Amino acid sequence: MIMKGKFITFEGCEGSGKSTQIELFRKYLENNGIEYLFVREPGGTEISEKIRAIILDVQNKEMTDEAEALLYASARAQLIKEKILPALNSGKLVLCDRYIDSSFAYQAYARGLGMDFITKINSYAIENCMPDKTVFLNISSRDAFLRKGGADKDDRIELSGADFHQKVYEGYLKVAKDYPDRFLLIDCLGEKQQTHENIIKALGI
Ligand code: TYD
Repeated sequence: MIMKGKFITFEGCEGSGKSTQIELFRKYLENNGIEYLFVREPGGTEISEKIRAIILDVQNKEMTDEAEALLYASARAQLIKEKILPALNSGKLVLCDRYIDSSFAYQAYARGLGMDFITKINSYAIENCMPDKTVFLNISSRDAFLRKGGADKDDRIELSGADFHQKVYEGYLKVAKDYPDRFLLIDCLGEKQQTHENIIKALGI
């Protein structure tokens, strides 16, 4: 895959090893002299980071599912216009830690808002800017939690319970079926270096 001007996202359940794999992937890009922009969701701009704080605040117990989904979409709208589109237009590779597929898995499936609602609100946010490839770290939420040694219990979403996180995983698998050309399902039960190599191979770089 030629990386110039490409949009790559990483997705996975809590504890899937996503942060570690993103670190390894960034080192790979740097070692190979590939220029890139890295951002995370929710966040990545000053305004989006403020929205992130509201979404994840454990005090915000009354937040409705709809408000949550709209806040994720707002943070995304700001990030897209302020950072992602300009970088893609200048020919840079963009690497994003979570993106719209998190809203599909967490809000559409696990919260039960449905794909129509999430697709509709995000159509205002993303202006057709879908990832070229999405690296999905394919480990069930149960295996991921076991490997990680339980939830960190430091944000509202992590505290949502095992059933919720199982639904997130099932949601991801459904989304992967809807977008078979874009989704790369990466087996990540083995050593982290092996997983990293699986990612590079799947991306064809
Ligand atoms: P974060 O600490 O960044 O989680 P992780 O390290 O697992 O990526 O917190 C982001 C949380 O927000 C995470 O639990 C996933 C959730 N999320 C959604 O529910 N919907 C979304 O659209 C996005 C982008 C994230």
